[in-house]
Amino acid sequence: MEILRRRVDGSVLLVAAALVVLLAAVPEVSATRWTVGGNMGWTTNVNYTIWAQGKHFYYDDWLFFVYDRNQMNVLEVNKTDYENCNSDHPLHNFTTGAGRDVVHLNVTRPYYFISGKGFCYGGMKLAIHVEHLPPPPSASPLNEKSSALRSTYIGHTPFFLTAVFAIAALYEAFAQVW
Ligand SMILES: *[C@@H]1O[C@H](CO)[C@@H](O)[C@H](O)[C@H]1NC(C)=O
Ligand SMILES: *[C@@H]1O[C@H](CO)[C@@H](O)[C@H](O)[C@H]1NC(C)=O
Ligand SMILES: *[C@@H]1O[C@H](CO)[C@@H](O)[C@H](O)[C@H]1NC(C)=O
Ligand SMILES: *[C@@H]1O[C@H](CO)[C@@H](O)[C@H](O)[C@H]1NC(C)=O
Repeated sequence: MEILRRRVDGSVLLVAAALVVLLAAVPEVSATRWTVGGNMGWTTNVNYTIWAQGKHFYYDDWLFFVYDRNQMNVLEVNKTDYENCNSDHPLHNFTTGAGRDVVHLNVTRPYYFISGKGFCYGGMKLAIHVEHLPPPPSASPLNEKSSALRSTYIGHTPFFLTAVFAIAALYEAFAQVW
């Protein structure tokens, strides 16, 4: 019985340790890195309007453009230049030369991206609207980021705790029957 007791305590400790690790990892999960075009990447013959449909892009998410660095590029333009595929005066040139470019969506506003070198006319254009994270229960306009993280904690803690208590109770019951 004593040995079993100790094993039970050990298991509960392990679960508690797992809980701590899970909770620590949750805030990292809240930002999404979107690979533009999914498996197709940033290329011709993909309709990026359809790709973006139904997706929610939130403040602090990232876009990841994967493409043929010898051909395409990644330029942020304004709405007019997006519509006309005009790459003469980009607002921001995200092209690094590796064919792997990241864009941090650090402002809640519309973003318009095109590839220059004529590819925009073939459909390489992406328009998204970056939204605020859904408001947490106790929203504090002064510190959106940390309240968003707090809401993530609030949202996930009960589930993890429930699981921990359930597992702990199971071990407890098991030990008593034994
Ligand atoms: C986009 O930029 C072009 C060139 O600078 C300008 O003529 C046009 O009015 C701008 N459009 C918007 C919507 O700001
Ligand atoms: C964008 O930046 C890359 C890397 O610095 C450069 O090679 C390229 O010419 C730039 N493109 C435009 C359209 O400014
Ligand atoms: C957002 O990111 C862009 C590109 O990396 C940068 O130029 C800009 O200063 C940033 N804006 C804010 C508000 O952090
Ligand atoms: C992409 O699909 C949308 C919606 O079906 C359509 O309106 C648009 O013309 C298409 N874009 C291209 C470049 O084919």
